[in-house]
Amino acid sequence: GEDERTERIESALDTLGDDVVILGHNYQRREIVEHADFIGDSYQLSKEAANADADYVIFGGVTFMAESADIITDDDQSVILPSMEASCPMAGMAEALQVDAAWAELTAETDANVVPITYMNSYADLKAFCAEQGGLVCTSSNAHEAFEYAFEQGDKVLFLPDKHLGENTAHRLGLEDEIVEWDPWDPDSKDASKAVENDIILWDGYCQVHERFRESHIEQVREEYDDANVIVHPECRREVVEAADEAGSTARICEVVEEADPGDTWAIGTEIHLTHHLQRWHPEVNVVPLCGEACMDCNAMRQIDPNYLAWVLEELVEGRERNVIEVAPEEKELAQVALDRMIEI
Ligand code: 13P
Ligand code: SF4
Repeated sequence: GEDERTERIESALDTLGDDVVILGHNYQRREIVEHADFIGDSYQLSKEAANADADYVIFGGVTFMAESADIITDDDQSVILPSMEASCPMAGMAEALQVDAAWAELTAETDANVVPITYMNSYADLKAFCAEQGGLVCTSSNAHEAFEYAFEQGDKVLFLPDKHLGENTAHRLGLEDEIVEWDPWDPDSKDASKAVENDIILWDGYCQVHERFRESHIEQVREEYDDANVIVHPECRREVVEAADEAGSTARICEVVEEADPGDTWAIGTEIHLTHHLQRWHPEVNVVPLCGEACMDCNAMRQIDPNYLAWVLEELVEGRERNVIEVAPEEKELAQVALDRMIEI
């Protein structure tokens, strides 16, 4: 049962003391965030990883987040992902090899300086590729700043892998007329010479969870609660972001609910676990999920089962390091450059 497992986790944590720090993404299950030393969005967790002194950083999140933590932490610290199955499908939509090929096609068609920006939701080899080409990493909380940096450095942006975050960011900067979508899976429709006529080339990746939100969900919630405020994650489709009152990272979503007055209604368009946490943390605010309950669940985040958390901790007590996430040294150095550029902006 849950009580017994909680006891096992707590007892292992007592033994391990300061050797371990647990980071939990906002989308993790309640039974994970309850044990986390820090809860936050991708950007906050990468900063917490950088500041961590512990020998072991246990990451409640998905593979790309644990990789980034490994890149940012010192070499003698280990990053542990309680389940090796926790992989974000969006990160898998832009593989470095495939991006390399697309890059060659695009850059052959233009003398302009193209700067690649990859969303944090990508693997270390793609981050390394971006660094090599003068680009950088961004998260949903600093994508607009990354675009501004890129346009200071060059003439065009290739944004990967999330086309919706890319499109929403271009709108935020008033650059929506510069957008073109690049579908790496469709050899007939992608025309490199046409694509480079535009300043913002969007890779055709997306989040399967956030793509499911529709304008009609916002209409429904506004009908049900006439004072509803709506905030959605910028991984949602453009028309959804347009229909909402605000779009923001998961940290921003937490902030608007924290700052709400008692009795205010906030409808949340993001992964369902965060909506449930906000309901528990702020019972005085009327926090409602857009689109009911069932379908907005991230299967990758859900892989971090609390039983696995208990297991990796108990193994550490026994001196065994399980599920260590290690980025290859050559990639690590370059990917670090791309992450540092983000942290600097
Ligand atoms: P945040 O950086 O806003 O926490 O988003 C991470 C993520 O995976 C969104 O789907
Ligand atoms: Fe990836 Fe979407 Fe899950 Fe975030 S919510 S980890 S982008 S699949």
